Amino acid sequence: MLKCEDLSAAYGDIVALRGINFNVAEREAVALIGANGAGKTTLLRSISGLMPLSSGSVKFGGQAIDHLSPEKRVRGGIAHVPEGRRIFPGLTVRENLEVGASVRRAGRGEINADFERVFELFPQLAERQKQLGWSLSGGEQQMLAIARALMSRPRVLLLDEPSLGLAPRLTEEVYARIAEINEGGLTVVLVEQNTVLALQVASRAYVLENGEIILSDSAEKLRGHPRVRDAYLGR
Ligand SMILES: Nc1ncnc2c1ncn2[C@@H]1O[C@H](COP(=O)(O)OP(=O)(O)O)[C@@H](O)[C@H]1O
Ligand SMILES: [Mg+2]
Repeated sequence: MLKCEDLSAAYGDIVALRGINFNVAEREAVALIGANGAGKTTLLRSISGLMPLSSGSVKFGGQAIDHLSPEKRVRGGIAHVPEGRRIFPGLTVRENLEVGASVRRAGRGEINADFERVFELFPQLAERQKQLGWSLSGGEQQMLAIARALMSRPRVLLLDEPSLGLAPRLTEEVYARIAEINEGGLTVVLVEQNTVLALQVASRAYVLENGEIILSDSAEKLRGHPRVRDAYLGR
């Protein structure tokens, strides 16, 4: 469904990604793991069109999408939940969700059905609909950011460090929802520094180091891989 071919990207003279080959099949949950600065965020931004490529290409559903703007990619089904959540200031929970739906130009009935669907998944948000988004706790803001992305009816959900800054109990809850979303049939690409968590939810993973993929395998095999154990699992 999603394919990065020999993808490279740079910030000026700083090469952030080099020769990346990355594939995700429909309904898969795939993790991207690696230390701070490895290039995980840059790869998600390359896929969603926020980062220009210096070479290579991104294909989605078999089509090259390199010429498409980020907005067109969202409309095409690529939803990106950025690092740090980016809840819109001054908007209520419900208004944040409306913005997520607005890219689709869907009818009211369809949007209302989507509201029901995300409120079923995140009952906390239903209770806080009229509150300002940024008055929510960190965990609730993460849920709102995910729910907002779901309102665009994506075909793939890109998640950048959804556990960042969350207390363990909330991390667990956010991850339970992510697993549920994937089990419901949505394709998920998950960036995480918390490798234990990432390898629980994902069935496959890629390990990024200094802008290059150094390993890719099933989550089970990676959990037992000496390099992953030493560098990322703290054993
Ligand atoms: N806006 C930027 N300008 C310059 N360099 C950047 C910028 N964002 C990231 N980088 C550099 O690109 C590399 C990859 O960063 P990033 O993709 O954010 O890594 P990760 O998400 O894995 O922590 C790092 O060396 C980082 O310093
Ligand atoms: Mg990052």
